[in-house]
Amino acid sequence: MRVVDAFRDAYGTAPEGVWHAPGRVNLIGEHTDYNDGLVLPFALPWGVNAAASRRDDGVVRLLSLQAGAEPVTLDALERAAGWARYPAGVFWALRAGGHAVGGADIAIDGDVPAGAGLSSSAALEVAVAFALNDLYALGLGRMDLAVAARRAENDFVGMPCGIMDQAASALGAEGRALFLDCRSLGSRTIPLDVAAHDLTLLIIDTGVHHELADGQYARRRADCESAAKRLGVAALRDVSDLAAALSTLSGDERARVQHVVTENHRVEAVVGLLRAGAVEQVGALLNASHLSLRDQYEVSCAELDVAVEAAVRGGARGARMTGGGFGGSVIALVPTPRLQAVQDSVTAAYGERDWAAPRFLPAVPSAGARRLI
Ligand code: GLA
Repeated sequence: MRVVDAFRDAYGTAPEGVWHAPGRVNLIGEHTDYNDGLVLPFALPWGVNAAASRRDDGVVRLLSLQAGAEPVTLDALERAAGWARYPAGVFWALRAGGHAVGGADIAIDGDVPAGAGLSSSAALEVAVAFALNDLYALGLGRMDLAVAARRAENDFVGMPCGIMDQAASALGAEGRALFLDCRSLGSRTIPLDVAAHDLTLLIIDTGVHHELADGQYARRRADCESAAKRLGVAALRDVSDLAAALSTLSGDERARVQHVVTENHRVEAVVGLLRAGAVEQVGALLNASHLSLRDQYEVSCAELDVAVEAAVRGGARGARMTGGGFGGSVIALVPTPRLQAVQDSVTAAYGERDWAAPRFLPAVPSAGARRLI
């Protein structure tokens, strides 16, 4: 295994173990997680392998096959730079949570398509969290580790994300989507066997990432928090009378609430359709989610809109932007015989605009984080 060879070359011994954590794609439930709402992501076949051993001198050596080496110490984790902030943040979050985590040598090998919005950073955090949990016998469960990984990202890296990405990586299951209540953190997996219906879930990676993404993400969160305050609820999850809420709000807050409340209902509807075996009908809800994200939540961009429209024109049952927005990927539900036609349609639409060709990846629901060796 490549990561074991890299570990041995760098550190001169075999690792105590190797852990894997996957990236994710979200089927539906976008920008609902930090509103205490519902999400339905699934784990992908690509992820991060982390080979690791304990050290007893407080040193943390981090090596990435993709991004180089970074030495850190436990008493100066904040000096970690670049990609190393994510694993350093996991050490920090576990220790801040009162867990006795010492130093470690770690080698990382990742194959989550970079820049596609498929949560390579969550995969990195979760792989390291699972490794430290076993190496230091912390006894934490999967959701505890997802929560620690999210804390690393929120409070150490400084990205105010919700729990979805880390939970999908930690709790995903082969052939299933993760139906997660982001308030209670209760979850269950739902069978997602689209192939049995002659359908394919296709990821369309636009290849773009607009710079405003992080600032706009924080602004959307702030809009939601101020709207919740104005409505007198703890979180937008608690809005039960949408019409009444909309009549008391205006401007951006009104639009954001409309998205979040209807998106939670769409997640429940998709879960219902999947349970009923009405998989093709999920497409209409993907389309509705995209329009809501485009027009009410305003986190789409031209590249995402064109990919969605061209996919549907080419025969997709439905498509939507997935992840935070402002670039990244679209997820489309495609009748398998139409797969080539859908890809051709999107490629042609990009070509007409002189945009670089998008990348197509099959989205197969895969297993969550686990120890490999
Ligand atoms: C990013 C964040 C998630 C979630 C999505 C939007 O991926 O990391 O927590 O908020 O955006 O649904």
